[in-house]
Amino acid sequence: MSPFFSDDFKEEVRANNDIVSVVGRYVKLKKTGNRHWGLCPFHRESTPSFTVSTDSGLYHCFGCSASGDVYKFVMEMEHADFPEAMKLMADWAGLKVPESMVEDRYQAQKLQKKQRYYALNADAARYFYMMLHEKESTEAQQYITKRGLAPETIKQFGIGYAPDGWDGALNYLKEKGYTQEEMLAVGVIVKNAETGRVYDRFRDRIMFPIFDMKKQVIGFGGRIVGKGEPKYMNSPESDVFVKSRHLFALNFTRGAMELIITEGYMDVISLHQNGVKNAVATLGTAMNEEHAKVMGKVCKEAILCYDSDKAGQDATMRAIDILIHAGIGVRCLTLSQYKDPDEYMKLLGVERFRQEVKQAKSWVEFKIDRLRTNYDLEDTHQKIQFANEAAKIFARVKNAIEQDAIIRKIAAETGISSQAFLTQIAKVNESAIHKSAFMPQQRKKSSQQTEDHGLTKRQLQGERLLIYIIAVDASVAKRIAQTFSVKDFDHPIHHRLATMIMQLHETGKKVSIPSLFEAFDENEQSAVAAVFNSELQFDDHYKAAMDIIHHIQSEKRLRVIHQNIQEGNVAALNDLLKKHKHLSQ
Ligand code: CTP
Ligand code: MN
Repeated sequence: MSPFFSDDFKEEVRANNDIVSVVGRYVKLKKTGNRHWGLCPFHRESTPSFTVSTDSGLYHCFGCSASGDVYKFVMEMEHADFPEAMKLMADWAGLKVPESMVEDRYQAQKLQKKQRYYALNADAARYFYMMLHEKESTEAQQYITKRGLAPETIKQFGIGYAPDGWDGALNYLKEKGYTQEEMLAVGVIVKNAETGRVYDRFRDRIMFPIFDMKKQVIGFGGRIVGKGEPKYMNSPESDVFVKSRHLFALNFTRGAMELIITEGYMDVISLHQNGVKNAVATLGTAMNEEHAKVMGKVCKEAILCYDSDKAGQDATMRAIDILIHAGIGVRCLTLSQYKDPDEYMKLLGVERFRQEVKQAKSWVEFKIDRLRTNYDLEDTHQKIQFANEAAKIFARVKNAIEQDAIIRKIAAETGISSQAFLTQIAKVNESAIHKSAFMPQQRKKSSQQTEDHGLTKRQLQGERLLIYIIAVDASVAKRIAQTFSVKDFDHPIHHRLATMIMQLHETGKKVSIPSLFEAFDENEQSAVAAVFNSELQFDDHYKAAMDIIHHIQSEKRLRVIHQNIQEGNVAALNDLLKKHKHLSQ
């Protein structure tokens, strides 16, 4: 999995971290029957649909389909990568990560280099922080006070000051043992191409350190004190600072289910200071797909709260497209005459802001409202054009109820009938299907249609139980293979699972559920988890299996009959009836 760790160690760590106790560190679990239940940490819910099972070593949420093994859980909760999760779990279990496991020298060197950069940035942040508190920095201190930043905020965000001058940071960091090359690499200093002289990048600027999820300093944003150009100067991208992979203040939003996205550092800081602790901003760049991916890992919904000027509203339109494409729900908050969230908070206070958040429009409404301003709906021709464009927007709303509600609302407001919109939407959808027929197949994460592959609910459940039994009981697996073979599983994932399990039994190997799990792609894993979470206690595996097989088979026959009835296939029905007679005799 990772070049750093052997599979043996990985399994040792797993064996010493019972999934129920690991999950129990984050989620309150209650044992019912053979399973533990709790409120899902990956989506908002009030009744538990999140289950954990020691036997399978997996967790699964019946509400949002989140699922995985103990490693995946820790990675998700800690926003950690695999080696980090492993280190953490090794710690919990009192295991020492073997030195020899850092095998890949190149990787190790790269990691070492990055560690130096993090340390350098942290030292630079310390320096700026110190400088802000120096006597000579009165102007910067006054500016910060004027902007209303409280001492606790300054501390929490590590806000500092880069004094005017050419080599303050340079000398401080040199003293700390960093080379010029390293300082250039992270961009705290710059080099004049002609003279070769090096000097501080940030001069006379309020400094905002940017942290990653591990609270390592990866770069800086520097705001000029008072007026001047450029207003903000940011660290350049480096090995540790990739702007599209990070969001400002995301490290302070742990546990938030929705994020408020603003344009500016000051907006974020101001919101956090007032207790709105789920605000983030991009790092001086427009939002892109990478950002959306990062957000998708931590939240299901985003509230866009950009500046109220035209640039901000245009940026909102682009961000909506990016976010909904990434499967994130979007609402938009407009600040009317107030410039940005920071100003809004200052003038109207946090309670009003919270109300705005509650009432923020869905992205559809936002787009439709904006669209409407471009048309004169008194003019028939323009009205038709508006309806056409609106239908394109409605067509992107995947939830039928939500779509219905918004169409009704706009219909009532514009006097265009709901039916007219629906007809237009149908056209949009049709042309989308035609287009997609020529497009390469996309991998969809949780496409409803393919989830049960045309199996009835009972058949699906039956197959799951059967897989579970053959996984845990090799002898029963062999006994029933005559009656119900691997190819009788209709669900492709069950089919693959059964094949793998039978192969393990044949070679006398132990079936390890987590490793079965890992043989599947991420988008298939929830189907696998559903199998191993549907566990029940059976007194007699063989009898249970035969019962289930019986049910599946009659379910399949029923389905065929049904199909033939629907197609009016009398001959086939007669055949089936004859067969049935034979069976029941
Ligand atoms: N920005 C930048 N470079 C600039 C101007 C802006 O990188 N020359 C980025 C910064 O990340 C800034 C964001 O764009 O935070 C929004 O810009 P703006 O609205 O001008 O700044 P505010 O955060 O509102 O800052 P302030 O309130 O201090 O004016
Ligand atoms: Mn602003």
